[in-house]
Amino acid sequence: MSEGTALWWQSGTVYQIYPRSFMDSNADGIGDLPGITEKLDYLGWLGVDAIWLSPFYPSPMADFGYDISNYVDVDPIFGNLADFDKLVEAAHARNLKMLVDFVPNHTSDEHAWFKESRSSRDNLKSDWYIWRDPKPNGDPPNNWLSNFGGSAWQFDKVRQQYYLHLFDVKQPDLNWRNPDVVKAMLGVMWFWFDRGVDGLRIDVIYLLFKDEALRDNPPDPNWKEGEPNFDQQIKKYTEDQPEMDSIILEMRKVADEYPERVLIGEIWLPYDRLVRYYGAEQNGLQLPFNFQLLLLTDWQASSVRQLVESYEAVLPIGAWPNWVLGNHDKSRVATRLGQAGARLAQLLLLTLRGTPTLYYGDELGMTDVKIPPELARDPQEKGSPGHGRDPERTPMQWDASANAGFSSTGASTWLPVAPGYQSVNVEVEKADPASMLSFLHELLKLRRENPALNTGSYRSVAGSSPACFVYEREGGGKRFLMALNFSGQLQTLSVNEPGQNQGKIIISTHNRREGVADLSNLELQVAEGVVIEL
Ligand code: GLC
Repeated sequence: MSEGTALWWQSGTVYQIYPRSFMDSNADGIGDLPGITEKLDYLGWLGVDAIWLSPFYPSPMADFGYDISNYVDVDPIFGNLADFDKLVEAAHARNLKMLVDFVPNHTSDEHAWFKESRSSRDNLKSDWYIWRDPKPNGDPPNNWLSNFGGSAWQFDKVRQQYYLHLFDVKQPDLNWRNPDVVKAMLGVMWFWFDRGVDGLRIDVIYLLFKDEALRDNPPDPNWKEGEPNFDQQIKKYTEDQPEMDSIILEMRKVADEYPERVLIGEIWLPYDRLVRYYGAEQNGLQLPFNFQLLLLTDWQASSVRQLVESYEAVLPIGAWPNWVLGNHDKSRVATRLGQAGARLAQLLLLTLRGTPTLYYGDELGMTDVKIPPELARDPQEKGSPGHGRDPERTPMQWDASANAGFSSTGASTWLPVAPGYQSVNVEVEKADPASMLSFLHELLKLRRENPALNTGSYRSVAGSSPACFVYEREGGGKRFLMALNFSGQLQTLSVNEPGQNQGKIIISTHNRREGVADLSNLELQVAEGVVIEL
């Protein structure tokens, strides 16, 4: 990329907010939009560039907002449209872009469209959802499973038919083969772009189409006892269908009616299938989410290097990369990798080539919170016990006061606050130069100030130790070398940089600041990562 041509969503960093858990401004124990507005100065200070909000639309909250009963309003729990407008204005005033969640695969069963659709077999919206007759013996039309457990089909007494729900029974799947559905959903995109949002994160976009013949999904031979039931099948006929190609182009056309809008797709597919979502001529989604770091179980230098290299190799020319380390559906990074591992992972995230997405609270080293069964909220926990997502959705930890400063409610917050919040919170960590927060703050600043790190080129570098991952970024007349020790032992590296044997340590996960680094004899502590300016 030539200098100065990068777009904001290429050079910037995205920060995901789960609105229920960020800041509660009205003491009801649930976060809301005015709460987020109150905390924008914090995000400005932290140094992120864009905020993505998980859903805040009217919803019966069967899946905490991913079951939408009206796409063009705000649920009273979170405020109203005027609060949203204020939030966008305040974010823009701080140079923060605003992204919202767009959930096109399914609505709530309480959406007016579904109420009409289910009322008879011949109403105007009768074909807006996926309805099918039972098998002659009364069974569901095929073997498809819901992500939240059990069959993906629900029998409806009025229509005497089944409807499809790939998620909760209260989340009927829309029929994207119906042009009226397409029109209505593109209209939702226009609505939010007209309201000033800078981009959309599109929920499970790779699921929009299902096999028209409704063929059974084959069993997955790799499924193991204890894994979610849903994963017993290969989703051959319920994901990534051929019809996707044209719909992403249509969505992109809507985004392109506005300047510099971005479409991010939630797509859980391996790289070879993920890249399709960029569109054949980069005219699809600009950022199909790359979740491989989030899914990696083998946290070692060789596997991470392999991931990065296979991604770089498969990206079409002109396609912009991206990396994700945490979100509201997966265990937190500090729980998956421990605090030291999380620091190393953040250094990786913020120095790789591609747009990084951070999950709220990960900048503090927040960990998953064990939720007692009687307080479980997530439908996935109810359908697949032990696989729920409540632990990574607990309230943001602002300070050491009651409820971690998240809420002044006298009752309980919607999910419990983490037990260790008195020491893991924004106020305490801001004051501690060795904290995770101070580290992230410094790293984000370094990334933002250096084109080499935000939009520069990437090159993997041979090092003498297979336990370390070493790579270089270059741009804006500067070169940086990253050396990350993934092992549990001290490592001494000799880095092969032609014509250069010294560099300057700019930042380290271990707060090391001795300045000069000898590239032929570079010592790295256990789980240490360093950024060296060459
Ligand atoms: C996506 C969301 C998840 C939600 C599901 C259904 O995977 O990230 O939270 O439950 O879609 O909308």
